[in-house]
Amino acid sequence: MLINYDEYRMMYEAEEKLWWYRILHEKVLKEIQNRFHENKQIKILDAGCGTGGLMSFLIKHGYENIQGFDYSEDAVSFCKERNLDVQQTDITNFEDKFATNSFDVIVNDDVVYQFDNSTITNIFHTFQSILKVDGIIITNNNAFNVFYGTHDIAVGGNQRFKLSDFEKFLKNLPLKIIYHTYWSVLLSPLILGVRLVQQIQLKLNLIDLKSIKSDVTVPADFVNNFFYQVVKLEEKLFKKGFFGSSLFLVLRKKL
Ligand SMILES: C[S@@+](CC[C@H](N)C(=O)[O-])C[C@H]1O[C@@H](n2cnc3c(N)ncnc32)[C@H](O)[C@@H]1O
Repeated sequence: MLINYDEYRMMYEAEEKLWWYRILHEKVLKEIQNRFHENKQIKILDAGCGTGGLMSFLIKHGYENIQGFDYSEDAVSFCKERNLDVQQTDITNFEDKFATNSFDVIVNDDVVYQFDNSTITNIFHTFQSILKVDGIIITNNNAFNVFYGTHDIAVGGNQRFKLSDFEKFLKNLPLKIIYHTYWSVLLSPLILGVRLVQQIQLKLNLIDLKSIKSDVTVPADFVNNFFYQVVKLEEKLFKKGFFGSSLFLVLRKKL
């Protein structure tokens, strides 16, 4: 499902500042650096790039060889405002858009939650065919049904995932999960509390479904910085987070 224009504008305005995006973008950068060290010539694809915040962030860090696609015209036009190399393409049907074995890195953050399981397997099948043999796929997705809330409704969420779900999607594909972490562990009690209240409100019909918005708004600076620092602390404490509302994965091709 495509989200409405206001949601894309909120995304466009929040993604350089909101703690959650900053953490996610830094996680992606770290995995690229772990795999490719100082090599900035690598070819990167952001599949379902939204309004292009991650692409801009990677370009600022010297990765110029980066393309993206999204199915939404609004998302693509926000990307064009950022002068990004982005095309309008459907992730469920993009086999013929890119050459096989052509990307070093494919990023796919928070897109597949809206699809059924066989579609997700097909998407990863296409990813592995356009990925170079020594390339990586980085994918972040919403995790654990207990975190279901109004955000899921606003962004058209169909499901939330556990590691075992991705193990099933990838079972017959030549891809292996080389790293996974759930995040944010330390902010989970807070996020869970908010989402549980929302679940009760939804059950009691206390929320007007037409006016629901996603969580993509920047809170006051001190709250935003506090959440950012808490997740940075957690990254030092745990190499792999064991619980959280997001699941971050790195995949490689099986040789
Ligand atoms: C929650 S946003 C995530 C955007 C971006 N990856 C990020 O991390 O900010 C989900 C994105 O998936 C895009 N999308 C939805 N259906 C799609 C499809 N069939 N093909 C490509 N992109 C799609 C939406 O337009 C939206 O930009």
